Amino acid sequence: MYGIPLMAISVKVLVMKTSDISLIEASEIDSEQLANISKRAFETDAEYGLPKNIQGPPGYDSPSFYTKILRFMNSFCIMFNDEIVGGIMVNIKDKHGVIERIFVDPNHMRKGIGSVAIRQVLEKYPEVVLWNLGTPEWNLRTQPFYEKLGFNQIGWEHSEEKFRGRWYEKRIGTESILTPIGTLKDGMRNLLIEGEIVEKSQPRMVRSKRTREALTVSNAGLTDNTGRVVLVLWGDQIKLLKIGGKIRVEEGYTTSYNGILQLNIGYGRLITLN
Ligand SMILES: CC(C)(COP(=O)(O)OP(=O)(O)OC[C@H]1O[C@@H](n2cnc3c(N)ncnc32)[C@H](O)[C@@H]1OP(=O)(O)O)[C@@H](O)C(=O)NCCC(=O)NCCS
Repeated sequence: MYGIPLMAISVKVLVMKTSDISLIEASEIDSEQLANISKRAFETDAEYGLPKNIQGPPGYDSPSFYTKILRFMNSFCIMFNDEIVGGIMVNIKDKHGVIERIFVDPNHMRKGIGSVAIRQVLEKYPEVVLWNLGTPEWNLRTQPFYEKLGFNQIGWEHSEEKFRGRWYEKRIGTESILTPIGTLKDGMRNLLIEGEIVEKSQPRMVRSKRTREALTVSNAGLTDNTGRVVLVLWGDQIKLLKIGGKIRVEEGYTTSYNGILQLNIGYGRLITLN
């Protein structure tokens, strides 16, 4: 009765050596194959908590999505010798890296390939001192996967409409790349800011100049031990943030409105910290 598990262990050791795995930069010609593998990989989420009314992440089955993101992200094919067995996509802004997506062919899952790919991506960018990534709350498989790789959950990401995501990070060394609030000036980009919400205005209705859509906006006061800034909140973000709550803005930017300095989230990320 112990024969089967022992065989399974020895097969696992035989099929994969770390040196068999490598990352090659993806190009347009890989998009069909990446979409095919991604579709099959994310479909297996049905066994790991995927709610029935939700499909995979944006573009998970679309070759044109994997072509389009080549313009915005560093995209790699995960190779097992000469075969593409997965993909990993990262967004690097100076010393901050975000692993935006990883998937492994279901025929090759649980052989250590995903772990090796993440370690290799971290080695590729030695300048990065802070790595982040998100994973849906419902996902039962990714939590042990990322935690085994040394990622810690620091809070929750709220950019997806349908669910919240666990926000993980791994620090390399001790350097902090947070911008102190007291040093903010108009026109800054790609800001990583942490602070506490100390007040929040009543929401106000405004109309988008571009789309004429009705929007709700609120100003929040955000402080750290160096200063205070106005954080502009839109729509669902207003209810989400509580006075006294600690938050992080990733890829935020500053503007000035009627002479008041504002921190904006825009296409960046809003994280509520634990
Ligand atoms: C998540 C994913 C990339 C992992 O890739 P992988 O190559 O199978 O992972 P590894 O073999 O390196 O697993 C490393 C560890 O993660 C954990 N893990 C991986 N798969 C698991 C599973 N099905 N159940 C529980 N733990 C699991 C285990 O701790 C495992 O170590 P062990 O095998 O020694 O127990 C792969 O399952 C996948 O493509 N999933 C679908 C897409 C996806 O969810 N991507 C992440 C989006 S946030």
